[in-house]
Amino acid sequence: MRSEFAGGRADKRGGHAGPILLHISRVSSNANSPFLAGWSAPGVGRSATCERVGACAIYLKLNEFSVNLEFETEAKSLAGSDVTSSNLVLQQARILQDQFKELYGQNARVYCAPGRVNLIGEHTDYNDGFVMPVAMDMYTWVAAAPREDTQVHVYSRNLSEHAEMDLRDTNLQVQGHWSAYVLGVAASLRLAGQKVCGANLLVEGKVPMGAGLSSSASVEVAAGFALLAASGLSVTPVELATICQRAENEFAGARCGIMDQMMACCGRANYALMLDCRSLEFQLLPLFPDAQFVVCNSMVKHDHAASGYNARRADCETATRILSGEIPGVRALRDLTLMDLERFSQSLTEVVYRRARHVVSENGRVLAARSALERGDPELLGRLMRESHRSLRDDYEVSCPEVDTLVELACEQDGVYGSRITGGGFGGCTISLVQRSQVEEFGRSLAQRYEQATGKKSDIYIFQASDGAREALQ
Ligand code: GLA
Repeated sequence: MRSEFAGGRADKRGGHAGPILLHISRVSSNANSPFLAGWSAPGVGRSATCERVGACAIYLKLNEFSVNLEFETEAKSLAGSDVTSSNLVLQQARILQDQFKELYGQNARVYCAPGRVNLIGEHTDYNDGFVMPVAMDMYTWVAAAPREDTQVHVYSRNLSEHAEMDLRDTNLQVQGHWSAYVLGVAASLRLAGQKVCGANLLVEGKVPMGAGLSSSASVEVAAGFALLAASGLSVTPVELATICQRAENEFAGARCGIMDQMMACCGRANYALMLDCRSLEFQLLPLFPDAQFVVCNSMVKHDHAASGYNARRADCETATRILSGEIPGVRALRDLTLMDLERFSQSLTEVVYRRARHVVSENGRVLAARSALERGDPELLGRLMRESHRSLRDDYEVSCPEVDTLVELACEQDGVYGSRITGGGFGGCTISLVQRSQVEEFGRSLAQRYEQATGKKSDIYIFQASDGAREALQ
């Protein structure tokens, strides 16, 4: 069934009672709208209830764009969860808007960007490889309004602290300070030639920090989106992701890859995103109807900059440098097969060989995971997740005893297909694939058994796959 919506008037055929899930399948515009340069309709998820389609019509009319949106409808009433989570988004945005008014005496617009969980494909992004993340319905919020001068002022609700910069400052020094993730983005936007102007910002992060769920990228992308919008500017999602990655590399000092920022920009409700980190092309893969991903937080904090993340990256660079001298055409570990590695294993130290073996085998697992999602085969994906964990634990050595315990306990539960560490590692979270009917029991019993085994309380997140960065209030 199809509904069409053109020029600000919705024509819904089919007569469903109650909300209907609408997927925007195509957006086209004859206007050179900055917001439509690669984004879906701003502020409206690519799946929306009918009410939210109404909001979309108003936005488009106000901005005088001539736009055609084509929707594919699913004859499926929402069981309340989508509606509830979109209401929560609105509520949260309004609260931040009020707080902004109190703080700066101005009316603000509010933007949000999600955290992410990676299903599979770990430490492959900075090796030009493949990743498969999902955006979670946990967000960083940024309220913003323009200033008359060239200052960017930011207040963090999480830390109750203020920071500021002058956009003319070409020597911003914020490494090690929380403001790097906001002011670094402002500086990075300027370095990319974006003439952002002064702005007041209020930031509130709801993505758990240091848990491997990409709180940093969600701050960067929400701040970047807000700074651009406050200046009447826009870039494509891929450009914004690249600018934010540069901010994290150069101003926060973490040599992260592109996965987290891409996800925060391009996430799509109900889909995983299979990203080729070399071309930055991606494919959306539908999640399983009868199995759900559940995230469990070991509560062991990681810290990229201080941990072995940069050291792992350096090991990969060493392997690439040596093997590119042996095998023509090798630009990154992405270009190698396991057979290539075997053949030239004597050229590498034992540790560097194991690091490379993880990356090469993990890329293969992501490709296999794509088929698992396409074929609707949770058994296969579960098996790949368990293999991925072993490789990250033994070859890449980014797990820790608590996370290993969480994975082992998860795999012993009924209805579990697989489980693995997710994110940068050295603590943080696991992701488990669980039969939908078993999810609640799984969470309850895992938290209990983990506490018995380690004395630590685990947070369990039963999340929904959400859309990427957007304006939260129109
Ligand atoms: C962190 C980085 C990502 C990626 C993962 C590991 O989240 O920010 O770029 O390297 O670790 O897969």
